[in-house]
Amino acid sequence: MKIGIGNDHTAVEYKQAIAQHIRDTYGYEVVNYGTDSTESFDYPIAGEAVANAVKNGEVDLGVAICGTGIGISLACNKVHGIRCAVCSEPYSAQLSRRHNNSNILAFGARVVGIEMAKMIVDAWLTAKFEGGRHQRRVDMIMAIEDKQ
Ligand code: RB5
Repeated sequence: MKIGIGNDHTAVEYKQAIAQHIRDTYGYEVVNYGTDSTESFDYPIAGEAVANAVKNGEVDLGVAICGTGIGISLACNKVHGIRCAVCSEPYSAQLSRRHNNSNILAFGARVVGIEMAKMIVDAWLTAKFEGGRHQRRVDMIMAIEDKQ
């Protein structure tokens, strides 16, 4: 399993802690698509990069982090095939996999403490898409892209 991770300047150390947590806990490879500098960095660049990596199958799933998680999630969701969910707690993260088949998880380094962020990641990585009626609804979401 490969996880892509993207971030802006607000989340450099935070990204490193999340990447380490994923490696240590799951043994997954983590591929970095974000900045490693605290110089101002435009989050759409990292969002597009991690989203394209998920879309192209370079990685299986993605994690996207900016100050609030909002800007980078908006960028991710502009890439066809991406369902990026911004989560501030584990319940929504788990349900975003089970019901929405989210393929990128976003959160805000200025909003969510690092230990809570690890719990959010754990809830998301261990949940499975349930299919069934949820597949129909996800298909409806993705069909919106084709109408644009
Ligand atoms: C950067 O200041 C901040 O705007 C960015 O990290 C993010 O929160 C945007 O949504």
